[in-house]
Amino acid sequence: MMGNGTIFQLILCSALLAGLARAAAGNFYQDVDITWGDGRGRILGNGNLLTLSLDRASGSGFQSKSQYLYGRFDMQIKLVPGNSAGTVATFYLSSQGSAHDEIDFEFLGNASGEPYTVHTNVYSQGKGGREQQFRMWFDPTADFHTYSVLWNPTHILFYVDGTPIREHRNRETATGVAFPRSQPMRVYASMWDAEEWATQGGRVRTDWAAAPFVATYRALAATGCTSGDAAACARPGGSPWMYQELDSTAQERLRWVQSNYMIYNYCADTWRFPQGVPPECTAQ
Ligand SMILES: *[C@@H]1O[C@H](CO)[C@@H](O)[C@H](O)[C@H]1NC(C)=O
Repeated sequence: MMGNGTIFQLILCSALLAGLARAAAGNFYQDVDITWGDGRGRILGNGNLLTLSLDRASGSGFQSKSQYLYGRFDMQIKLVPGNSAGTVATFYLSSQGSAHDEIDFEFLGNASGEPYTVHTNVYSQGKGGREQQFRMWFDPTADFHTYSVLWNPTHILFYVDGTPIREHRNRETATGVAFPRSQPMRVYASMWDAEEWATQGGRVRTDWAAAPFVATYRALAATGCTSGDAAACARPGGSPWMYQELDSTAQERLRWVQSNYMIYNYCADTWRFPQGVPPECTAQ
């Protein structure tokens, strides 16, 4: 089901960006630049692994060489094992500037044996505050797991190992709440220190004796409309993510995650929004 607005956006995507559905093969040498951390970010092997480390002096990070307007983005991540309190690993999409759009996964570390918090957020036109947080149904430090963002004109979907954990729908027409749909984004990842607030509200500090803290990234697969090539972006068969939404099975799995593993939802935070939760939470 596509409204005129959606079709218009598809045309915009292909016409303005001359978008290309590009399947990155997942070679970090070709796909990303390590942008900060003075050697703490390292590409290993033949380019299929990337480690980001954090010590008292600095964290580290990388960004994709390409920018995308809509797409599907998968990253396998193995989080910092043991005592990771105060550390935050990220995987997110962002555009530039003060009115930027952003789609976030942040992984908040914890004391040994205590669970990670998987934090998600969506910014549009510089405004965020749309947090949902989750526990995982596995130990995210024991092995690689796939964290995905799907972004198209009508939906932003967050997945873990193919299971949808969050759906953020475009409610612009009904509510006037901006949805990210015009600013191309890069893929970013980072490891940084947030001991002031990340773990149990800052009560559990970082154990710097255990540094460096290392998160490992693998198999970045970014497929989206990029500047550079032509209309594949809007061609139905060419880019399935462009039209993807949750079918009834996926809706069911989303509900399973949300009722068993969601630990915070801004849309349910009536203490924070005494005048009523934001309009995109209740729009049909
Ligand atoms: C860390 O573990 C504690 C205790 O289980 C929990 O309350 C908290 O939400 C966990 N995560 C973070 C980021 O503090």
